[in-house]
Amino acid sequence: MRSVVIALAAIFLAAAGGLASPIDSRSTTEQLVLNSNSAKSPRPLVIWHGLGDTSLSDGILDFINTTQSLHPGIFVHSVKIPEEGSLDDERKAGFWGYAEMQGDEGCEQIKAIPELKGGFDAVGFSQGGLFMRYYAQYCDGPPVKNLITFGTPNYGISGLIPCPTPPTLSCLLAARVARAGIYKPYAQTHIVQAAYYRDTERLDEFYDVNTFLRDMNGERPFAADAEGEEQDGDGGAKRGKRGEGRGLGGLENLVAVMFDEDRTVSPAQSSQFATYAPSNKSEIIPLHSQPLYKHDWIGLRSLDEKGGLQLEHCPGEHMDIGGEGGCGERILRKWVGWDK
Ligand SMILES: *[C@@H]1O[C@H](CO)[C@@H](O)[C@H](O)[C@H]1NC(C)=O
Ligand SMILES: *[C@@H]1O[C@H](CO)[C@@H](O)[C@H](O)[C@H]1NC(C)=O
Repeated sequence: MRSVVIALAAIFLAAAGGLASPIDSRSTTEQLVLNSNSAKSPRPLVIWHGLGDTSLSDGILDFINTTQSLHPGIFVHSVKIPEEGSLDDERKAGFWGYAEMQGDEGCEQIKAIPELKGGFDAVGFSQGGLFMRYYAQYCDGPPVKNLITFGTPNYGISGLIPCPTPPTLSCLLAARVARAGIYKPYAQTHIVQAAYYRDTERLDEFYDVNTFLRDMNGERPFAADAEGEEQDGDGGAKRGKRGEGRGLGGLENLVAVMFDEDRTVSPAQSSQFATYAPSNKSEIIPLHSQPLYKHDWIGLRSLDEKGGLQLEHCPGEHMDIGGEGGCGERILRKWVGWDK
């Protein structure tokens, strides 16, 4: 196993080898537009992988490779949790762990990388997008410029994400603990999916015990209040333990990508901040009707009003970013690497 890790790391380093190279192979038109910037290297990129994946899996290496051919010289970091762990430890950490602590670990990891000091674009795959949001909202490290979330359950999941086929032991065990009591403190602090499990039939329990997603979305723990006006005085305290942090208003762009055939995230529209209506899974509350949006709890509306909220679509199933010329490549070309 260890030698595989080293081999993969070696490929990664080799791929990153062109790093400081000033070669600029942008097309002529783009070069004309970006003429004054042509000597600068592209803005760096940080990736946070999804559930069951690892930081340097074949899929991620492929993605990095595509990024580097689109933006020659780009610096790319793929977040690894735990930093000193085997591939198995990494895969397991996708299912098992205390989400806030993993978020804090990512924060420290990113802060320690000199190449990222000036800020960076960020790509989060599925649940990795929630960790990237955690970084953007709470971490005191360098700023995220464009945040791209692929199929991320930005407003939680109303059912567990199914285990892969064949299922891994970590996934089966985590699912068992989750079913036994997703809103028990044990699950909330030990099962990553529990940290963004927002069952619209059980919102009171969610408001009561969840901290990760509830606070990141600035949701009040008092459901009855959700449509009401801002409260005076302790309004902040009512947003939960940590509040929404900085929110998302400081981003240049939030690019929320939904997979149109997504049958993994429930509902798929959660990738763009939609939820099921409370106690009615036949109805979807779209982004623009969410109190979170209308009352601008996390700066999403302000971001939208200054043109920074991009609702993108990929045609396939969850995480089907397509191959060459596919949806992932289109989004990488458009939203990553450019210093505007
Ligand atoms: C990256 O892409 C190039 C060209 O498509 C290919 O030759 C190379 O093997 C790829 N490298 C990795 C690590 O996938
Ligand atoms: C649930 O939502 C659907 C679609 O909006 C609606 O037709 C139905 O009456 C709702 N059911 C309840 C119990 O509110």
